[in-house]
Amino acid sequence: MRKLAAGNWKMNGTAAALAEVKALLAAHPAPGCEVLLCPPATLIAQMAWTAKGSALKVGGQDCHPKAAGAHTGDISAAMLADAGASHVILGHSERRADHGEADALVAAKAQAAWGAGLVAVICVGETEAQRDAGKTLDVVRAQLAGSVPEEASAENCVIAYEPVWAIGTGRTPTLGEIAEVHAAIRATLTRRFGAEAAGMRLLYGGSVKPSNAAEIFAVAHVDGALVGGASLKAVDFGAIIAALSA
Ligand code: PGA
Repeated sequence: MRKLAAGNWKMNGTAAALAEVKALLAAHPAPGCEVLLCPPATLIAQMAWTAKGSALKVGGQDCHPKAAGAHTGDISAAMLADAGASHVILGHSERRADHGEADALVAAKAQAAWGAGLVAVICVGETEAQRDAGKTLDVVRAQLAGSVPEEASAENCVIAYEPVWAIGTGRTPTLGEIAEVHAAIRATLTRRFGAEAAGMRLLYGGSVKPSNAAEIFAVAHVDGALVGGASLKAVDFGAIIAALSA
C-alpha cells in the first residue's frame, strides 16, 4: 500500500502561499509516498497548475452533496475536479462542529465525490469528553458506519482518524492510543468490506509535526497523516513527507 501525506490548509493561504508549494516540489521532486495538499477552494486551480507534471496531488476541503443547483456559496465535487482536484476531505471535525454536518450528510458528500471521480478522505474522531467517558471506539465505529457509504473501496476512500482534542492543540494521543483506534478502524472496515479494507489507507491527524511524525508512522495501521498547521510550511511538510518515505 502506498502511504499518503495529506495537508489541509484550512482557511489559510492566498496566491502568495504558492511559493511554499514551489519550495516543496523543489525539495521533494520524487517523494517516496503519495503527497496531497488541500488548499482553500480559491487556490485549487492555481495549485493544480503549479503542481502540473509533478507527483503532488491537489484536493478540496469539502463539497456539496448535489451535483449542481441553487446552493449559494457551495461547490460541487465536479467543480473541484474541474479545477484540478483529485481528492476531497469530507466530515472534518471543523465542518461537523461549525456547520453541523452529521454522518448522513458526510456519506452523501462521499457519494457525490465518487460520482465526480474524486477520492474521499473521510474524517472521524472523538471529542475530549467522549474520550474521557471511555467512548472513543464507540464514537469512531458509529461515525464509520454512518459516514462511509457501501461503495467505499481502497481506490476511492481514505479514512482519517483525528481526535478533535488533538487538532491544532499540540497535544497527541499516546502511540498506544493511536494503535488501539487504528486497529479498531481496520477491524471495523474489514467486517464490512472484507479483503478490500486491507488496502484502504488509514491516516492519523491531529498535531502531526516533524518532531513526532516518525514515531506515529511506526504505529501499526497508520498509513500516513492528515496534517493541518505543519502543512503550511514547505520545510515542515517536507520533513513529514521524508519521515513517511523512510
Ligand atoms: P493540525 O490539524 O495538524 O493543525 O492539528 C489537523 C487537521 O485538522 O487535519
